[in-house]
Formats: sequence, C-alpha cells, structure tokens
Amino acid sequence: MLFRNVILDGQRCDLRVEDGVVQARGKLSCKEGEEVVEGGLLTPPFAEPHVHLDAALLGARRPNVSGTLTEGIRNWTELRPLLTAADVTARARKTIEMYVSWGALRIRTHVDTGNLVAVEALITLRDELDDIELQVVAFPQEGILRAPGTRENWERAVEMGCDAVGCIPHFERTTEEGWQSVRMAFDLADKHDIAVDLHCDETDDPASRNLEVVCTETLKRGWKDRVIAGHCTAMHNYPNPYSAKVVALVAESGVQVVSNPLDNIVLQGRYGGYPRIRGHARVDELWDAGCTVGIGHDSVQDPWYRLGTANLMDAAYMLVHYAHLTGEAEMRKVFRALHDDNHMCFGGPPQISEGEVAQLLWWPSEDPIDLLRDRPRPRVIR
Ligand code: FE2
Repeated sequence: MLFRNVILDGQRCDLRVEDGVVQARGKLSCKEGEEVVEGGLLTPPFAEPHVHLDAALLGARRPNVSGTLTEGIRNWTELRPLLTAADVTARARKTIEMYVSWGALRIRTHVDTGNLVAVEALITLRDELDDIELQVVAFPQEGILRAPGTRENWERAVEMGCDAVGCIPHFERTTEEGWQSVRMAFDLADKHDIAVDLHCDETDDPASRNLEVVCTETLKRGWKDRVIAGHCTAMHNYPNPYSAKVVALVAESGVQVVSNPLDNIVLQGRYGGYPRIRGHARVDELWDAGCTVGIGHDSVQDPWYRLGTANLMDAAYMLVHYAHLTGEAEMRKVFRALHDDNHMCFGGPPQISEGEVAQLLWWPSEDPIDLLRDRPRPRVIR
C-alpha cells in the first residue's frame, strides 16, 4: 500500500509498505492495483508503559460502590486469591486486543506478586505473543516489609522471569521502611540484571519522599533509562522549593516519571472535602527540566477505575485538562509522548524507514490537536 502526501517526522512525503516492510519513502508514484491512502499523519505505534492486566476487566465482577482507592484495594484483595490462569489470560488477551485496536503494540504490565498464578499466566502470555511486545513487572501491591510472605512472593515472581522489579514504598509502614524497600528493589533488579519500575509516592502526602531515593539509587548505579517511577502524585503537593530539588534530581538521574492521569484524577484528593485538590506529577516542570515523561492508562475497567478503554489517547486527553497542558506546543508534546517517550522502557520507538518491519499508525488528520480532540481509531499497520 502507498501512503501518499502524508506527514511523517514533520515532513510531507510518500511511503510504501509491502509484505509488512517499509519499502520506500520519498516522492513515489502509485503502482497498478496498489491501495492508496491519501493525506493524514503517520507515527510509530503507541506504547503503554503502565497497566495492570491481572486486574483488567474485573471492575464489573465486584463493583467499587464508593469509587475510592480504599474500596478498590479491598475488592482486589478479595478477588485476587480466586484468580485462575485461564481467567487472567483471557482478560489479558482481550485487553491487549483493545490496546492494539487503539494503536498500542508494546505494553508493560504490572502484576501483583500476591498471586503467583497470575504472574505465571502473564509471563507465559508474554512468551506466546508474536508481534505484541509485553513486559511484566513484579509488583508487590501490599509492600514487601509489612506482612510475612510478601517479600518471598515478590522475589519468587522475579525469579520466574519478570522484566522489571516493582515496589510500593509509600505503602510500607514507615518512611525508613519505604526507603529500604526501594533499595531492596534495586538490589533485586541488579541481581537479575533487569529494570526497576516502582509505584512511587502515589499519595497526596507532601511528606512522601521516595522519589529522591529512587533518583539517588539510579545515579549511584548509573542506571539512566533503566528506572521508571510511576504516579509520583505526592509531587503535586510538595512545597515548591523541595519540588525544584527533586525535579532536578529526576532530570540528572534519567529516571522516567510515568503519569497515570485517569486513575489519579479520581483517586487522589479524597481526604479533605472541598476544595478538592488534584494529585499528579508536575509534568510541565519535569519537561522544563529536560525529563522524559511517560503517560500510562493504568486501569482498564479494573477495581480502581471502571471507565478505562485501553485507548492511550483518553489518558492523554485527561492529562491535558487536569495538568493545564492546553498550550499548543504542550498538547502536541503530550500526543508525541504516546509514540515516543512511552517507548523508553522498550529501548525507544520503532523506526519508520526503508527496510524496517512496518509498525506504524495512520491518522486521519495531520494535526495532533485535532486527534486529541476527536480521539479517532488509527489505522494500525503491523
Ligand atoms: Fe499502577
């Protein structure tokens, strides 16, 4: 097929895809019988840096009546021991299909290490998938130091073949134990030579101080581009002088912050009645400091958020609104993150150039702002 008069990397060009490979790029003429797609925008596929496939599509099974984080956790801990491999695999496959239909061909999922059946199911699924790249993060939902057995399950999950080590330091009992859990996660990742991807400071508490420890460990070990700190919502409420220090540390260390706007717009700020505070990573300040920010969907109809669609454009749309990123350049940068910065944990976005396997998205408008507004389904070439 021939994409004619499309925008790719900011330039107008033609692009031919044949037998799943990018054959030519430049000024091309149409071959007889060739399908021609006129105009629009071509981008690399989207990447999802943060979702929980083990919990996806479970929201209806035990509805979160109050819509709160607390009830979400309670429902999940009731559902978790009942999970079977077949159930986890079926829901994960269905969710991945939803992602693919919206243009995401790489997905990093967290899996709760409180159920090793789910861990094994997702690792097995990862190894079975052909043209979808799936990564699995060993995520101890209830921490590793609070309760007996949680650390052992977490270590076992990593040994089973996870791609990254997770932890949840703000959920440990004390600040000190939170920091300890961060260092344990780095040590475990070091032992298995894999990445680190933490749920970091997902709280409204401005005194939650784990991100600075994550950055310092990353710096000490020289692990630039190997560490993701997800959520980082406490940053929203940091005093500004402290935030300036931490943002600079994030930039220096090469830690990627992944914002998860759909969950955090509804789960944060639930303590104080009105005025309702927001809770999100300071994306604009991180950008200004030169940091790489990812945007995750986090929940696809799970116990925490029933409204997830697996369309990363919905997460981007929410972020643009609640983080006040409605400047022209900001909206374009948010869209770009989905097909560029979100690929950091996969080694960068796939190239769209001659001789490469064709993995790309065609969009009906050249303008990312039109696309963010309308959130159309892209044509997925893979
Ligand atoms: Fe998460």
